[in-house]
Amino acid sequence: MTGNPRAARIHQVDDRRPGNELLGDVLAGLARTPKQLPSKYFYDARGSRLFERICEQPEYYPTRTELAIMRAHIDGIAAALGPGVRLVEYGSGCGLKTQMLLGRLEAPVAYVPVEISRSALAASVAGLERRFPAIEMLPVCADFTQPIKLPRAARAPRQTVVYFPGSTLGNFDPDDALRLLRQMRAEAGQGGGVLPGGVLIGVDLVKDTAALEAAYNDAAGVTAEFTLNLLTRVNRELGADFDLGTFRHRARWRPLAGRIETHIVSQREQIVHVAGRGFRFAAGEAMLVEYSCKYTLEGFARLAARAGFKVAGVWTDPARRFSVQWLACN
Ligand code: AVJ
Repeated sequence: MTGNPRAARIHQVDDRRPGNELLGDVLAGLARTPKQLPSKYFYDARGSRLFERICEQPEYYPTRTELAIMRAHIDGIAAALGPGVRLVEYGSGCGLKTQMLLGRLEAPVAYVPVEISRSALAASVAGLERRFPAIEMLPVCADFTQPIKLPRAARAPRQTVVYFPGSTLGNFDPDDALRLLRQMRAEAGQGGGVLPGGVLIGVDLVKDTAALEAAYNDAAGVTAEFTLNLLTRVNRELGADFDLGTFRHRARWRPLAGRIETHIVSQREQIVHVAGRGFRFAAGEAMLVEYSCKYTLEGFARLAARAGFKVAGVWTDPARRFSVQWLACN
């Protein structure tokens, strides 16, 4: 411990449902037809490490492509956002893109990361406040999918910008994606700035099936390990008895829905027990565990418009695999 007297205090927002949220969601998901488990539970300590390894796989293009776009266009992005930004980030990620942004924005007034993992939040803010001592750090430990009251900055901002990188919006189905964008719009309007604010967001783009399916079925099998770790977590935390050797990862591109759908498929008929209840799996039965929605530029502009934004800036890589978009509040 360095005992830094300036260390930012983490705002704890207690918006968690009472009781064991994982247990409730798992029992409800296994009772559904078809079975379904929420992808947000992928990210325990091992799952977060596995996701970082996914980002290093040659087939998984989104992370390195988004970073390359940020590197190539950071000046244009910073100019579009302008001076005096109060930057709210949903999730606190690895911080590399955030560092680029905070380093290039003109006199940002505050950084407000909203992250559910207290340890990830503390680690990322500790690094950022050392690098950017002039920027007020206002970390918030909360679930960003719930409406929350975020702290105001000590200095008045010119506008609030919500930063949502990593194509994380893709994990939400269309209704939830729209709801989350509308919540970001409300957040941008509540920061006390003179401008209406907006959202800087990473959006993965529709491309050929082979490239999309390869990204979610890497040859080294890291994505499969990441997916199946969900069962390991449920076994450990809920005392369930999923037999890991009898389930497989499967990720397929669904062109009409515009998304990768990831399933965990039972290789044989079996009964799995969770909290004293038995759930039957047929041989070949698939349980949905993740959507990764991909957008065309036109399709995303329509979604943004429904949420109350206009697309005021789009930056892409030369192959148009990924986009970083500046959505200004209408
Ligand atoms: C972290 C949501 C952007 O959907 O591409 C990667 C998660 N899942 N490989 C994505 C993920 C399988 C990832 N996001």
